[in-house]
Amino acid sequence: MADSTKTAKLTIDGNDYELPLYSPTAGPDVLDIRKLYAQAGVFTYDPGYTSTASCDSTITFIDGDKGVLLHRGYPIDQLAGKSHYLEVCYLLLYGELPSPTELEDFENRVTNHTMLHEQMMNFFRGFRRDAHPMAVMVGVVGAMSAFYHDSTDITDEWQREVASIRLIAKMPTIAAMAYKYTIGQPFEYPRNDLDYASNFLRMCFAVPAEDYVVNPILSRAMDRIFTLHADHEQNASTSTVRLASSSGANPFACIAAGIACLWGPAHGGANQACLEMLKEIGTPDRIPEFIARAKDKNDPFRLMGFGHRVYKNHDPRATVMKESADEVLELLGVENNPTLQVAKELEKQALEDPYFAEKKLFPNVDFYSGIILEAMGFPTSMFTPIFALSRTVGWVSQWKEMIGDPQNKIGRPRQLYLGETTRDYVDIENR
Ligand code: CMC
Repeated sequence: MADSTKTAKLTIDGNDYELPLYSPTAGPDVLDIRKLYAQAGVFTYDPGYTSTASCDSTITFIDGDKGVLLHRGYPIDQLAGKSHYLEVCYLLLYGELPSPTELEDFENRVTNHTMLHEQMMNFFRGFRRDAHPMAVMVGVVGAMSAFYHDSTDITDEWQREVASIRLIAKMPTIAAMAYKYTIGQPFEYPRNDLDYASNFLRMCFAVPAEDYVVNPILSRAMDRIFTLHADHEQNASTSTVRLASSSGANPFACIAAGIACLWGPAHGGANQACLEMLKEIGTPDRIPEFIARAKDKNDPFRLMGFGHRVYKNHDPRATVMKESADEVLELLGVENNPTLQVAKELEKQALEDPYFAEKKLFPNVDFYSGIILEAMGFPTSMFTPIFALSRTVGWVSQWKEMIGDPQNKIGRPRQLYLGETTRDYVDIENR
């Protein structure tokens, strides 16, 4: 916890209260209201947590006005350009970039945990074939608590470490198997001679009937998508993981809760919704109609892949994702992809429109990711599972930070109650 060198004065009904004000290493000052109720008898009101810091953290920093995203101080564009996903995982988990031996050891540890308990296959088979892969992931990740009893004691640091490695290692296997199950193909087991991204692509696209060689360009693009989604400060799914674990729940159950939250279209589900929207638009001449709908207060339609709670200038992940989309589509020889043409024209027209400029709405990370994933051969239903597998390291890092923090206590918000006050029960015959 930062030291407080400043205070703020709050006056309620003529009584003054001094509140500590903390200066973070970056970002706005933070007002400490923890003793406010005990001292002044009032709650604060902040639905959607637009002005609330729910914890202190040293993992990720976002400056939404400048479009900056740092992991442990390193800018996301440098990490996406020069690093790779497992190195970023190490950075998020342990706070520093690894030495060559530390990285090798970490990669070996992750690689040695990629297989699932064989009995978990039965669990997949219990789902209907048309189940959304996110539904399967929520269930299977939650079920890990029933398969890996030796890493569910959160008071044991070693068990926390093993649970973290298991989650990062097994998530690609779970996501790929969820996909294989829905298309009726046999599960492909992980191959430990492949890197993390190549292994995932192989588990998704290989079939036992023929050889499958991973395209290194696609593998690099996949790894970059994982890296761009690795962590994002106290977003809805990360806060869900923290809140779930604040009660002492086991790690697999908490990550399953994070996956459930991510699924929503305002969060990780936006990548699927965005590509579906681009396809529905179909041709550039229909863009004005959809922009008009997004601006219409009486129409619930929103431009998917546009807007962000924190970024009010640009989403730095979207910049890298757009470059990646151009590269991948060119390399695959599909640079005239009609969906990409619609996306580029939609972005241009929306950014020229005063409505989007006034409300500071810009393309977010999900605007271009779906185009790359579709070009790679993924169906839209796999977009959010890929986000979930990428974000697992962020959830796990934030969870570990929280459990290791001596200030950790159960999350228990209060409310502004607007319901009935006490009234007497009326017997049914008298109602
Ligand atoms: N299209 C049209 N109008 C929008 C959009 C949009 N995509 N996003 C926000 N607005 C308007 C909204 O109607 C509101 O207008 P008004 O002030 O007149 O009522 C204003 O902008 C502020 O919107 P808000 O809903 O209060 O803002 P928020 O911070 O609560 O929501 C958001 C952020 C990301 C949920 C929202 O921008 C949105 O729904 N975007 C589309 C879904 C999407 O792309 N989500 C992915 C986010 S990035 C990936 C991730 O982190 O999960």
